[in-house]
Amino acid sequence: MPKLGVNIDHVATLRQARREFDPDPVEAARLCEEAGADSIVAHLREDRRHMNEQDIRRLHKIVKTRFNLEMSLNKEIVRIAVAIKPDQATLVPERREEITTEGGLDIVRYFRRIRETAATLREAGIAVSLFVDPVKKQIQKSQESGVGMIELHTGRYALAETRAQRLQELKTLRETTQFARSLGLVVNAGHGLKYHNVAAVARIPGIEELNIGHSIISHAVFTGLERAVREMKEIVR
Ligand code: PXP
Repeated sequence: MPKLGVNIDHVATLRQARREFDPDPVEAARLCEEAGADSIVAHLREDRRHMNEQDIRRLHKIVKTRFNLEMSLNKEIVRIAVAIKPDQATLVPERREEITTEGGLDIVRYFRRIRETAATLREAGIAVSLFVDPVKKQIQKSQESGVGMIELHTGRYALAETRAQRLQELKTLRETTQFARSLGLVVNAGHGLKYHNVAAVARIPGIEELNIGHSIISHAVFTGLERAVREMKEIVR
């Protein structure tokens, strides 16, 4: 059974809507761990649109399972990661204007830079994972860059419009997982996984951990809304 890493970025997105203190991602991390999350994931984006440096420092202090920092290759972010030393860093591509991470890192194109950044992070005692598309060439280059772990991008599977496309994407995920494992890599997967589409990915042999964010936080709004209204109504009454 794969582990579950919970990405809590969107708790901070909600907080930033008012730029005050609620809801606090640190409190969210505590609840996720109580509910069985195997790791806590947060992305410190260059534009700080949700998590900020202070959140990352506080999360690192209180997370009891494993703290996985998603980050780009940006020098300032690398410097922050080296100073904070999360348990794990997952390197992702980042464009300011994107709504969410759009694809895997192009390891073939940015090989030297990725290898150097991964080495800097490893020297700081941080386990490094690369977020990659399920493409053999990218996986091969990931292994050559010296990392021990990758996260396969499941976005194409999640966005598949027909059953045939979905099955094709699952096949690709299965084959690339096996390929990566044969190179000795630990394989995680994530992006766009939801309550209705996660089971087929969870069944793929060899996937160590699934990282899921938006669907869990969205679901939490509705599982908690009824109680939140009742409690407010009670006070008003
Ligand atoms: N894995 C990586 C590398 C990501 O960048 C993200 C999005 O921040 C996720 C997993 C989670 O994706 P989602 O929010 O769609 O579940």
